[in-house]
Amino acid sequence: MANLDLQIENGIATITFNLVKEKVNKLSFKVLNELDKTLNEIKEINSIEALVIDSSKENIFIAGADIKEIEAFKTEEEVYSQIIKGDKIFEKLENLPFPTIAYINGACMGGGLELALACDYRVATTNVKTKLAFPEIKLGFFPGLGGTQRAPKVIGLINSLDMILTGKNLDAKKALRVGLVDEIFDNGQKKFKLLAFIQKAIDKKIKRKKLGFINNLLQSNWLTKEIVYYKTLKTIEKKVNRDFNAPYMALEVIKQTFDKEYEEGIEIEARAFSKLASTKESKYMIELFFMFEKFNKAFTKTDKPISNVTVIGNGVMGKGIIWLFTKFLNEVRVKVRKLEQVSSIIKSVAKLYDSSLRRRSMTKNQVEFKLNKISYTDKYNGMQNIELALEAIIEDEKAKKDTFSELEKVLDKDSIIATNTSSISIEKLSSELVNKKNFVGVHFFNPVNMMPLVEIIPASKTSKKTINRVTELLVSCGKTPIVVGDCAGFIVNRILLPYLNEAAFILEEGSHVKKIDKVLKEFGMPMGPFTLADTVGIDIGYKVSKILNDAYGDRMPIAPIVKRVYEDLKLLGVKSGKGFYIHKGKLKKVNYEVSEPFNMNRQFSDEQIIQRCIYIMINEASRCLEEGVVEDAQVINFALIAGAGFPPYKGGILNYANDVGLENVLNNLNNLKARYGKRFEPSDLLKKLVKEKKDFKTGEELWKL
Ligand code: NAI
Repeated sequence: MANLDLQIENGIATITFNLVKEKVNKLSFKVLNELDKTLNEIKEINSIEALVIDSSKENIFIAGADIKEIEAFKTEEEVYSQIIKGDKIFEKLENLPFPTIAYINGACMGGGLELALACDYRVATTNVKTKLAFPEIKLGFFPGLGGTQRAPKVIGLINSLDMILTGKNLDAKKALRVGLVDEIFDNGQKKFKLLAFIQKAIDKKIKRKKLGFINNLLQSNWLTKEIVYYKTLKTIEKKVNRDFNAPYMALEVIKQTFDKEYEEGIEIEARAFSKLASTKESKYMIELFFMFEKFNKAFTKTDKPISNVTVIGNGVMGKGIIWLFTKFLNEVRVKVRKLEQVSSIIKSVAKLYDSSLRRRSMTKNQVEFKLNKISYTDKYNGMQNIELALEAIIEDEKAKKDTFSELEKVLDKDSIIATNTSSISIEKLSSELVNKKNFVGVHFFNPVNMMPLVEIIPASKTSKKTINRVTELLVSCGKTPIVVGDCAGFIVNRILLPYLNEAAFILEEGSHVKKIDKVLKEFGMPMGPFTLADTVGIDIGYKVSKILNDAYGDRMPIAPIVKRVYEDLKLLGVKSGKGFYIHKGKLKKVNYEVSEPFNMNRQFSDEQIIQRCIYIMINEASRCLEEGVVEDAQVINFALIAGAGFPPYKGGILNYANDVGLENVLNNLNNLKARYGKRFEPSDLLKKLVKEKKDFKTGEELWKL
């Protein structure tokens, strides 16, 4: 067979997955058909005593189903008819009359893990690349080839809910601990250890790991099971909106089928999977997956990637950036204003490693090693060998320019200077530099350890080489950069700030902090606008708003209530304990002092709040396309999802606009403009698209004129 190789030796059959012209093994329907034929062949050979499923791809067992095929499905029935065929093939594997063993050396994901679960046993290697997971939930569906049926039988209800609902990876040790695999060893010992395992399987001497006492107890009677389901539902509700159906449906399927016979269970799973896999939400999640892939590959590998950096500025962002570089690079030099700052920097950077320690993905020694990569200086000397200097000082044009001029005096001619400014034009910042080709904007998002997006902003003289080197560096540090044009606020802040300000306008017209936050959180934003403003820092938000106001004038006014919070009340948000909320540890309550003078108490419907806050973003996103800040609507969708947490299952801001209808958006903007003025002035592109009956998917020629 083209993609599968069958070898039979001494009664042991081995099917090796090795997809032709592919880097990884995927379970396409073509491959499943080949598997079916191979299983039919094996069934006819009486001398076979055991079957091993293996892979010859480096560090990959099977990386999952072929997502492109799922993306292409149009109807529920289409999905169902294919899924049922796949189920039958796995049943064939499961029902073979001799022991079957999956040998997992590398990624074993989604459909790959479902195939492994259809085997009697699983052996995993201790290779760091060996990971087992059901990542389907991140694509808007759940395991649809028997995963919801077989996993609970093998690892119990609680462990399988955990794996299926979170998509988390288990390494070989953890997989052994929960009983997902039956033995682990180093791949170097494969020859002997696997053979010994096969023999034990043939001799029926393999003891399956028993479920722990508590897990067993919890799944053994209806009352405790109900408690598990109820608690799981509450956890999902805390994290996921109801309109993202996948985890809710996965839980429901497991709940409905846990005590049912396989045939009945698999039918319920297939029906529910088919429904989910054909939804718009799942298509958008798949699109997002491919966008991450595309942007992470958008550079050419260089012979000498950047390996040492210096960071200037060690506030909120500087510390996050220092942490990131200690994690991935060899050398991180930190320029401080006073050496007394050093101990607080070390403390903060070390704290960012806490979650790795908690998850046990790093040891204390490893963290120490990372922290030891940092060297400190209060002067600009000793930087000749630095390949990239990243500035993250206060948002002040003069202070930044002074820093660049100091840096240019000491850096090598090939070194790059990057600025983390969140809103000042890169062109302006580059104006006094001698070596303009090596200067670039590199805009991280807060918190650096959690936000995948980085905007790369070239000025007119920035060289392609600089953009490429910086992109390579960021991707190697686990970030996903996008290149955007130079304009005040770039993409994310330019679109997001009008949203935050609009929320503030609604507040001063008489709505409530909690109500507005709740409505937009329920819309799918990760947190409401006031919680976000407090978290980012009202000083930062205010300064960026001011820069946007200067650049775009009446179109981006600052809500008076924001001025009051920052200028009169001098509140900064979480970092000062007070902002739109009063923060005490994890607790927060509304700070009524903020809205006192505006206390008009007017009711706004959820729809009004959503339209005002979201449509104003759509309008600005449309302007970014119109002005050529980016060429592609997809970049804006991606930027808002990865940089501002716009609900991914809604496809990003412009897909959302297409779905609610551009005519509807335009009419609303016109009505809002009549009432509130210029900030709702519809963009020309939006008007053109409506006139031509196009949208942000079909009307590309209208902004690429
Ligand atoms: P911060 O206020 O926490 O830290 C500012 C740092 O600049 C401190 O280390 C301070 O000692 C230093 N500093 C102050 N005045 C200075 C001067 N005259 N010369 C040299 N250093 C000086 O600010 P944060 O939030 O870390 O922001 C830093 C930069 O990153 C700004 O350009 C900001 O716009 C940008 N940024 C901020 C984000 C945020 O959410 N906070 C997100 C993305 C970018």
